[in-house]
Amino acid sequence: MEAEALTTIETELAGEIAGCDTLASLDDVRVRALGKKGRISGLMQQLGSMAPDERKAFGQAVNALKTQISGKLDTRRGELTAKELANRLATERADITLPVRLGPLSEGRIHPVSQVFDEISEIFADMGFAIAEGPDIETDDYNFERLNIPSDHPARQEHDTFYLSGSLPSDDVGDGMRKVLRTHTSPVQIRTMLNQKPPIRVIAPGRVYRSDSDQTHTPMFHQIEGLVIDEVTHLGHLKWCLEEFCKAFFEVDEVKMRFRASHFPFTEPSMEVDVDAAAIGKPGQWLEILGSGMVHPKVIANCGLDPEKYQGFAFGVGLDRLTMLKYGIPDLRDMFSADLRWMKHYGFLPMDMPTLARGMSS
Ligand code: DAH
Repeated sequence: MEAEALTTIETELAGEIAGCDTLASLDDVRVRALGKKGRISGLMQQLGSMAPDERKAFGQAVNALKTQISGKLDTRRGELTAKELANRLATERADITLPVRLGPLSEGRIHPVSQVFDEISEIFADMGFAIAEGPDIETDDYNFERLNIPSDHPARQEHDTFYLSGSLPSDDVGDGMRKVLRTHTSPVQIRTMLNQKPPIRVIAPGRVYRSDSDQTHTPMFHQIEGLVIDEVTHLGHLKWCLEEFCKAFFEVDEVKMRFRASHFPFTEPSMEVDVDAAAIGKPGQWLEILGSGMVHPKVIANCGLDPEKYQGFAFGVGLDRLTMLKYGIPDLRDMFSADLRWMKHYGFLPMDMPTLARGMSS
């Protein structure tokens, strides 16, 4: 191979490199020149069949050629990269004046019951309450017995209980117990007192179930339970607490409330609480919103606490009814029909998180 031939190869490759106007075609040239089967690699392979004195000079010449071509490839690659970037900058445009697309945030809705639950949590959190939880499947013992509702108690009938057949595998309350779908959130009181030392301040939201279905009843609905246990708690605390709750919840400075004597097996005394519908802009009507009372000493003892030392109060709020009142929702059954049009109308945007500082529902 003559030096002249190397010069020809160099000229040809340099021409090809200069002629490339995309990075892809430049890479083709690189492979044809420097790749395993490329022209320059081919030259290297000829070295083996040369006389030693020839080999040295030729090897050096080919190496020089390789360095030359590599350099040219690099330079051209730099130019083409800059050119392609300039091209993209010139053609791809982002119109930053377009309105922001919210995507899933604007599509999804928070169910009014979830929203009201968040509102209530916010209000009670501010008063120092924690959130407690319990399972939907409860034992007869927690749902009734320990709440002072023995099996022959008339209150059992009112609960239209869904009983589960057989007994479920053992859990924290022992095997062999009859299970029910909890008919109220009150069993969370029992769970809390069994697991926590006083002072106790909790609210417990959740689904509850009763075999009942008509315009104002659905087999599944929602309650929020409240429980306070301490050494000095009295009825005045209960009234203050519920009054503060109602003012914050209905977003009014004054709220008229009526505490009506009632009866629940797990409280003594027991009261049902009504608010003047002026709170929702309809004065002159009383709306029943919750049941409450001082926790019955027997219930406290049933949870292993000394009723001589500890007292407290409890309340149970129907969450769905409260939601309907506050947001003017007419039919209970629509709440659970999973109708997207209904959700668009009554639902809340995910970013509308209720806070006391910003206002509950604004
Ligand atoms: N558990 C009752 C029900 O579902 C509501 C209730 C009333 C809960 C009074 C309480 C209470 O904690 O003190 O009808």
